[in-house]
Amino acid sequence: MFLHTEIGELIERDPGLGFALYKCGIFFSEHQNDSISMVCRSQNIKEDWVVRALDSVLVHDPIKQDFQKNPHIPELIEHLLRVHVFFSKEKLPFLFKLIKNSDPDGFHDPQVGKDLKLLFPLFYEDFVAHIRKEETTTFAYTRTLYSVWNHRKNPAILQFTKPNIDLRRLALEHLEDDDEMIGIREMTKDYYCPKNAGTQQKVIFWELKKFEKDLRRHSKIENELFFPQVVKLEKCCREYLRNTFPDN
Ligand SMILES: [Fe+2]
Ligand SMILES: [Fe+2]
Repeated sequence: MFLHTEIGELIERDPGLGFALYKCGIFFSEHQNDSISMVCRSQNIKEDWVVRALDSVLVHDPIKQDFQKNPHIPELIEHLLRVHVFFSKEKLPFLFKLIKNSDPDGFHDPQVGKDLKLLFPLFYEDFVAHIRKEETTTFAYTRTLYSVWNHRKNPAILQFTKPNIDLRRLALEHLEDDDEMIGIREMTKDYYCPKNAGTQQKVIFWELKKFEKDLRRHSKIENELFFPQVVKLEKCCREYLRNTFPDN
């Protein structure tokens, strides 16, 4: 029964369990030799609550969303924002804590462990800046465009609220700069992790690889579904503005 197996052993079998336990308030590296049952008893947590919570974290994939052929822009923004929150408030803080508390000597190559401690916080900072910029400029501007076009609001509002961005250029840059994790991937040699590496390295590399995969799925939605629609929408709004106020 997994509740009575040492957490270290469970993690060796399934490194993805580290994040699920973290969501239940159990940081695996502090309890490698304890079982979940022992941690529940010492922290006064109900076992069946932990079982249900683990189950839901392991089954639920926040990145996955089955969109219809042409999803509406508000639906896309809602999904993208939800994923931003998942990345910035859950996944990255977990990885940050893991890497910060890791011991480079537990890595198959201690230099990789040391370099990761330096590189990851920079990646984290850049990535959070990227998503904040998307939210405060692109998404905010898109909402304005959407309400002008769909609710036939006075298009003059566009003259005053357009942030200093060029949507077409932004869409192109987003498509071209689509490899935010290149530095970490190259430094870790494609997340290479031999069998004799420590448990922490196994979880860190497993999570980094998963994060890269999730990020690619997220960017694909932005590049293939979101930006093309927004660029089209902006064109429609500009025409609407010109027709309403021919001097513009
Ligand atoms: Fe995003
Ligand atoms: Fe993005």
